[in-house]
Amino acid sequence: MSEIVIDIVESSVQHLAIIMDGNGRWAKQRDLPRLAGHQQGVEAVKRIVDECVQRKIRYLSLFAFSSENWGRPQAEVDALMSLLLQFLASQQQKMVAEGIKLHVIGDLSRLSISVRDALADVEQKTSLGENMTLILALSYGGRDEIVRAAKQAAKQVLVGEIEIDQFDDSSLTACLDTAGLPDPDLLIRTSGEVRVSNFLLWQTAYAEMYFTDVLWPDFGSEELDKALNEYSRRKRRFGLTDDQIDS
Ligand code: IPE
Ligand code: IPE
Ligand code: MG
Repeated sequence: MSEIVIDIVESSVQHLAIIMDGNGRWAKQRDLPRLAGHQQGVEAVKRIVDECVQRKIRYLSLFAFSSENWGRPQAEVDALMSLLLQFLASQQQKMVAEGIKLHVIGDLSRLSISVRDALADVEQKTSLGENMTLILALSYGGRDEIVRAAKQAAKQVLVGEIEIDQFDDSSLTACLDTAGLPDPDLLIRTSGEVRVSNFLLWQTAYAEMYFTDVLWPDFGSEELDKALNEYSRRKRRFGLTDDQIDS
């Protein structure tokens, strides 16, 4: 009986988005270099990908590197990029085998050619994956994404592909990096910070927010269940009244 209930509760999140924060503090608490925190952060990513596949969550968006993170010390940026390359190399076979499709969002033009090539390669190899889409936000900023989308939309108007009066919410949505993907149902942020730090600004308009003090390297299946259970107790109204939702 309880297993059935858990299945219903958990499958109700179709798209989970996570701001994976707190790697540096995890390392600092242990007198380790920040890199050690990022390494453990990658282990947490592998764990959570598995947990989400098991729970039949169809879309998992992970904030891995923000447009603002480019301002970090070059050595840290370089270390994060090598961790990304290692992650891709070590996970691609498993992703293909498990039907996990990679989709990268963000301003990829700022990434090195080797990183871009590796991402494109894994995206291509995993493109037939049907169990879960893993959306990796890299060099990503919500405002930057909206600006790029607005430019693309303006071009469509200029060449007469779309009438300005017909331009609406869905026209802009179609120009975002996340075009074709459903909006996140639940946004989790770890590490105790209560802000969205420029992540999926447009797409999380009606996402449920869940903040936990747990640092990302310590985030695991129990923490995920807590968040999913909390989500199942929330009532999403989308601007309507309780009565409207209940009927
Ligand atoms: C999140 O951990 C990982 C990235 C932003 C790349 P942080 O590196 O921000 O860790 P804290 O916030 O300093 O603890
Ligand atoms: C947000 O974390 C970005 C990622 C998790 C990749 P940050 O650590 O960069 O956010 P702030 O600076 O605390 O807002
Ligand atoms: Mg941080």
